Amino acid sequence: MDEFIRVAAVTDVADPGKELIEVDGEMVALFHVGGTFYAIDDVCTHDGGPLVDGELTDHAIACPRHGAKFDIRSGAALSMPAVRPTRAHEVRVEDGNVFVRLRQQAAGPVGQPAAPPAATPVSHSGTSRQETAASSPAPAEPAPPVEAGGLAAQTLSESLIREMLKEVKDPELFVNIVDLGLIYDVSLAAAAEGDGHQVSIDMTMTSPACPAGPQLIADTKRVVSSHNDVSGVEVRIVMDPPWTPDRMTDDARDQLGIF
Ligand code: FES
Repeated sequence: MDEFIRVAAVTDVADPGKELIEVDGEMVALFHVGGTFYAIDDVCTHDGGPLVDGELTDHAIACPRHGAKFDIRSGAALSMPAVRPTRAHEVRVEDGNVFVRLRQQAAGPVGQPAAPPAATPVSHSGTSRQETAASSPAPAEPAPPVEAGGLAAQTLSESLIREMLKEVKDPELFVNIVDLGLIYDVSLAAAAEGDGHQVSIDMTMTSPACPAGPQLIADTKRVVSSHNDVSGVEVRIVMDPPWTPDRMTDDARDQLGIF
């Protein structure tokens, strides 16, 4: 589509405020902030969830499903678990009316080419609109057991535990929790009773509401417990300081296509 379409009167949307509109058959989130209108797809690129019902803070909208944030001016993904931008559309205001022209592609990160189309969504839980549209989703297969491989036979140390934890991957991002920067602290102490060591791990989540949390904790305990010199594992979830994308290693960024 290459024409601007009238979607609302300026007075229809509070400032700050947001409305769900339909433009040429597509659902678009229209925002009014600081006297300016913005329009982005009402689609979270993490898992296809709608955005317009999320919390709007300045120029950021938070996806109500798992908390990813997007810049309403550019569509850029600002926080995990989304890593791809959503489409931002052209907006024009004339004679008290708001017009939108759809863009075909989302802009890439600043200075980068347009992002490729989103991959088939994989959800933590619940049903996204994209999933709803699918005619017959394949039944989920049980996750394979997590193995720490030959590392479990090496001398126990903090660095070895971190290496072992690379076996634990975020079920949506498919990147291990060490390279994602989720492991804040690992400590060892001689077990109070019997042989072996008690291992304490402070880890965080990419968002406070991350539904993968219980699985990541269970996998972390299972992997570390596989070492013969470990008698117990305690995992504490720490949200302060909060996780930010700059905690990721370059390997994680490469895997996620973040430059
Ligand atoms: S669907 Fe938006 S953060 Fe998961």
